[in-house]
Amino acid sequence: MSSNMSVVTLLTLSLLAAMFRSSSAHQASSSSSSSIGPLGEASTGGAADPAFPWSHLRLPSYIVPVHYELRLHPNLTALTVSGSVRVQVEVQNDTNWVVLHSKALNISNAMLLDHSMAALSEQVLPVLHHPGHEQVAVFSPRVLSSGHTYFLHLQFGAELTEGFYGFYKSSYKTGAGETRVLASTHFEPTSARKAFPCFDEPSFKANYTVTIRRSPEHIALSNMPIEKTVRLNEDLMEDHFATSVKMSTYLVAFVICDFRSVSATTSSGVKVSIYAAPEKMHQTHYALEVAVKTLDFYEKYFNINYPLPKQDLIAIPDFESGAMENWGLTTYRETSLLYDPRSSSARDKLWVTMVIAHELAHQWFGNLVTMVWWNDIWLNEGFARYMEYIAVEATYPELHVEEYLLNVCFAAVGRDSLNSSRPISSAAENPTQIREMFDTVSYDKGACVLHMLRHFLTDEVFQSGIVRYLRKFSYSNAHNQDLWDSLANTCSEEDFTSGKFCYNDRQASKNAYLFAGEHLNLTAMMNTWTLQKGVPLVTVAREGSRLLLKQERFLKAVLPSDPVWATLQQGYLWHIPLTFKTSSSSTVHRHLMVTKTDSVDVGDQASWVKVNTDMAGYYLVHYEGRGWDQLTQLLRENHTALSYHDRTHLIHNAFQLIVTGKLSMGRALDLIGYLPSETHTVPLLEGLGFLGAYYRMLEKTAEHDVTQKLRTYILRFFGDVIDRQTWEDKGSVSERHLRSEVISLACDLGHAPCLRQANRRFADWLHSEGTLSLPADLTETIYSVGAQDERGWEFLLHTYTASPSETHKHKILSAMGSSRDRNKLSRLLEMALEGEVIRNQDLSTLVYLVARNPHGQQLAWAFFKKNWGFLVQKFQLSSFCIRSLIVGTTAWFSSAEELSDMRSFFQSIEEQASQLRSTQVALDNVQKNVLWMEMNLGPLRDWLNRHIH
Ligand code: BES
Ligand code: ZN
Repeated sequence: MSSNMSVVTLLTLSLLAAMFRSSSAHQASSSSSSSIGPLGEASTGGAADPAFPWSHLRLPSYIVPVHYELRLHPNLTALTVSGSVRVQVEVQNDTNWVVLHSKALNISNAMLLDHSMAALSEQVLPVLHHPGHEQVAVFSPRVLSSGHTYFLHLQFGAELTEGFYGFYKSSYKTGAGETRVLASTHFEPTSARKAFPCFDEPSFKANYTVTIRRSPEHIALSNMPIEKTVRLNEDLMEDHFATSVKMSTYLVAFVICDFRSVSATTSSGVKVSIYAAPEKMHQTHYALEVAVKTLDFYEKYFNINYPLPKQDLIAIPDFESGAMENWGLTTYRETSLLYDPRSSSARDKLWVTMVIAHELAHQWFGNLVTMVWWNDIWLNEGFARYMEYIAVEATYPELHVEEYLLNVCFAAVGRDSLNSSRPISSAAENPTQIREMFDTVSYDKGACVLHMLRHFLTDEVFQSGIVRYLRKFSYSNAHNQDLWDSLANTCSEEDFTSGKFCYNDRQASKNAYLFAGEHLNLTAMMNTWTLQKGVPLVTVAREGSRLLLKQERFLKAVLPSDPVWATLQQGYLWHIPLTFKTSSSSTVHRHLMVTKTDSVDVGDQASWVKVNTDMAGYYLVHYEGRGWDQLTQLLRENHTALSYHDRTHLIHNAFQLIVTGKLSMGRALDLIGYLPSETHTVPLLEGLGFLGAYYRMLEKTAEHDVTQKLRTYILRFFGDVIDRQTWEDKGSVSERHLRSEVISLACDLGHAPCLRQANRRFADWLHSEGTLSLPADLTETIYSVGAQDERGWEFLLHTYTASPSETHKHKILSAMGSSRDRNKLSRLLEMALEGEVIRNQDLSTLVYLVARNPHGQQLAWAFFKKNWGFLVQKFQLSSFCIRSLIVGTTAWFSSAEELSDMRSFFQSIEEQASQLRSTQVALDNVQKNVLWMEMNLGPLRDWLNRHIH
């Protein structure tokens, strides 16, 4: 609080505050749609000022920011920032207070001005703090009256923060060993308030005019291009950026650095640039090509031009997550943007392409149209994830990205089949809860449900519907309902008169309405997917020419014999757009299932029925009676009668069901018995993936006989596939992908020819002092084999320290983390904690790698428990890093003892653990593993005994 505040002001202040609280509280509850109590972020320091006039986490809705003039002067040596912000606000209710967000900022001066810029008071205004809610309140002695415009002027100081959020410090080392510092931002979801005082909620969209001071050897970037640069003195420059479009606070960004760039122009004239550290410029060219192509694609697909004159993509050396979509200045982890033609693998290339497609999709889904509140973050992330596939399939068909879409749905099913899942739209009020919304439910289930909807409506209707949605809510915010309305042709008068974006009845009847047979209630249907958690299991049974259908909630860690089963099933019902194919007709049949039980006609002739064609629907299927046998036989005799999507879906489905006891282990293994003659990568990898995962889980137990038998079985069963592989980077992306997975598994299983090849290549590489170039897709495997030996491991560490390529470093890290030597693993964990050689951003990856290693699992878990306090402080509760540590260190636990150890640890950190969903997710996951062991170890042993002699 300002020190020159008079006693009189203080008195007025508390009186006003007391009066004000009751009326303002009412305003807030009407704007808040959730029942979650205002849990503040744990210990943000200091109690709220007793006179603080506002008691809600969300800001009052009647003070609306329209324009920010933001001036910043970061000092990259002292690691401090001084700044000021002048916010033009429109007041919609008489009030004496302006309440806004601010976190860890030192506000030194507050003023309020009227529309003609005259100060409302001669004195500096008092500022009250509510650190728990990350809010400040500025008191105006004169009433701010409804319908008027005012300017709030604040001066503030801050530190360039440690960590990865707010306005934070990053650094990198040049080849000559010199450390260079840069400053960058990451605001989503609630960190803009750490960089400048603001109305930090997605619905408060405003224009921003940014000015940044910097030294002449640096450049400054922000959302918009520079309009002019002023030289203030020898050592100080001032960049004035053009005023932005209307946008949410979380999309504001700035970077001050000494990077270089390469640029190109899209066909509509947008300047696209890739920025990176000077010595990494040779890795920027691929990203430039992708960004230009992708922007061009989106402009056409959405039929809406990208509204800014430029798009910068920048590789930030310290970046916690993968990338961030700030409007006009997207920021990336180096591995998400930089592609090194010499050392990057086919997978690395695909990753870069997808990440760019994701962040650029957000320029429309998220930036142009934003969810009203964080409960619907899936409207951003689900769409961006899905658009990755639509865009890359169109712009880079040779990457065959459609082969990976099923994995998105499989990931969603993995989470959604545990009771700890949540509905796509879920209440989230405080920053911890909001951060945790960025999870597989918002991303992967969101994308998968959109995929189902697109199939249901047809591509054309889906596309025209989302274009309508984007048009209608441009520079504004939307709810789920707005999306359903746009997609379901509920046109308003105005839409009809403008004509363009409402598809007409004729078009509609060709599509969705035909599917349903009559009028379709899209909202009712989609609510069952977005407002209800879980994934349905449809059980089908043949009865003459009818196929009897039954739906229930699919649950993995709980059996029907469990007393809670009935409760967990209660009230669940989905509107399932069912599709199926039969042996007797080549068309896809459709039926919208809206009741618990139902039936459809499949004819007498059908020898087999395959439900959920190409897994375009988000549901699992169980075939009763002879259903599975018929499909098993079909795969054995003529697997190409089904698409590769269908084959992959069957494999996935079968292995899901064995955890529930509905299908035996043996029958699932029989189903994949045809795999040696499988010609497509995706089903092959799906089957191999389950066997590999079982091996990993068993390897850590004392069940040596089963482990060895499984190993023998995999090597024999996939012998031909393994032998077919060559040790080079040749072929299509999917061939390259298959090769790297198969060879990696073969060496992991100790396949002698694989180890021989890898050892020989590693020795050659060592001999060349690391100058020999290895096949990029196999580098990780070759290094992993080489890392088992002392000299190899040490040389890898040396190479890691010196390598200029982050993707290359990742491969080395993965290899070092596969060492069987516990001392080496401990050393890695120590290095990750120090954050020097292994950057903090890579800590969670490293710990995960160690946990995956049977010799490191206990080390990783012990490390995690011991350093919990430190890690939470460093990375924030519910950050990507902490969540992946919780789930990652425990992912392979499968015993009751491990489960109880987890429980007692989570109990010891109860205050924090209870705020997180991830702890429950981790527990459910291990519970599922324990159940798997109980139910399947015996049957697996029996089956292997019968098949291996
Ligand atoms: N909007 C997110 C970035 C983000 C991450 C915001 C965490 C808030 C918390 C961005 O668009 C994103 O989704 N990034 C992904 C990478 C992407 C390719 C899926 C990420 O960071 O993992
Ligand atoms: Zn995203």
